[in-house]
Amino acid sequence: MSSLPFNILIFGGTGAIGKHITNAIVAAKASPGHDISIFTSEATASNPEKAALLSSWESQGLRVVTGDVNNAQDVSRAYEGVDVVVSCLGRNALMTQIDLIRLAEESTSVKWFFPSEYGTDIEYDASSKDEKPHQNKLKVREFIRNNIKRVQCTYLVTGPYIDMYFNLAPAAKAAGGYDAGSKRAVVIGSGNDAVGFTSMPDVGKLLVAALRHPKEAKGKALKVQSFVTTPNEILREFEKQTGGEWETDHTPNEVLRELETQLWNENHPLGTHATLRRIWAEGGTLYEKTDNEELGLAPQDMETLGEVVRRAVSETRK
Ligand SMILES: NC(=O)c1ccc[n+]([C@@H]2O[C@H](COP(=O)([O-])OP(=O)(O)OC[C@H]3O[C@@H](n4cnc5c(N)ncnc54)[C@H](OP(=O)(O)O)[C@@H]3O)[C@@H](O)[C@H]2O)c1
Repeated sequence: MSSLPFNILIFGGTGAIGKHITNAIVAAKASPGHDISIFTSEATASNPEKAALLSSWESQGLRVVTGDVNNAQDVSRAYEGVDVVVSCLGRNALMTQIDLIRLAEESTSVKWFFPSEYGTDIEYDASSKDEKPHQNKLKVREFIRNNIKRVQCTYLVTGPYIDMYFNLAPAAKAAGGYDAGSKRAVVIGSGNDAVGFTSMPDVGKLLVAALRHPKEAKGKALKVQSFVTTPNEILREFEKQTGGEWETDHTPNEVLRELETQLWNENHPLGTHATLRRIWAEGGTLYEKTDNEELGLAPQDMETLGEVVRRAVSETRK
């Protein structure tokens, strides 16, 4: 596989999904004369666990730049000579990207920007514009549409991460999940409605595939997935791999809607979790055709449900 002919700068690269994206970019390597760097806060650079991760990437050629993502001087300096910016900033920092993109447009080198998306399709249908968790990502897209002329942007729309979909959040169990330790599952609705998922390692693979296909990727919201399955098929895979039937509860869709309203009314941080799970359960991740093929990826290139469940089961046995 050819190396990447770009100077790439990653924001939020040690985060939950940033880690997988950075791993994949570092593994793909920059072509000779090019360079991969990560922009990170002092707090992250001095966190022992994250510092170990950063030095393992440094030993593979990644350059670490520390600075404040809200400081224009730090950012402009980091942009010098950079062609591609990949933002993996967390939900709390999404609006920071407006300045990051403005500074990219003002720079003399940045040509391509991946805003932090990696999730639910925020422009799936007419109702998407009203969904609370989408608002900041929608504002970023609107800013780009209205103000950015030179830099091209790509949104990688992956749907839910299957690895996180398994989480049975203790404070909102009715929103669904799978616990291999206790062999308990909570399934939304009948459990037979399909959902399109991406595994976290595959998000990195898909981002690198987009970098390898600039013509197909630039200026697009790419709809990509590892596989489509149903909550009941996930349950059967867990039962097969752990041996034996699981205790399973079902949450009717209308009960999930009530939970969602209650969590938002309480200003509970799991409001987002409930809304996204409702959107996924109601078909908001399904497409006639994804963009995987456009990016040169066939179904056999992606992780399977069996592989991701195996990883989750082995985690609980540690
Ligand atoms: N599809 C799904 O199921 C799913 C699930 C979770 C997240 N996502 C999406 O994935 C993207 C990344 O989310 P994540 O959960 O991976 O992010 P995260 O781990 O919460 O944060 C990633 C990085 O963002 C920076 N950051 C976070 N909060 C900040 C703040 N208040 N100010 C400045 N910098 C801050 C930090 O980078 P430094 O300290 O290194 O600067 C952090 O390591 C988001 O767009 C999110 O919506 C999708």
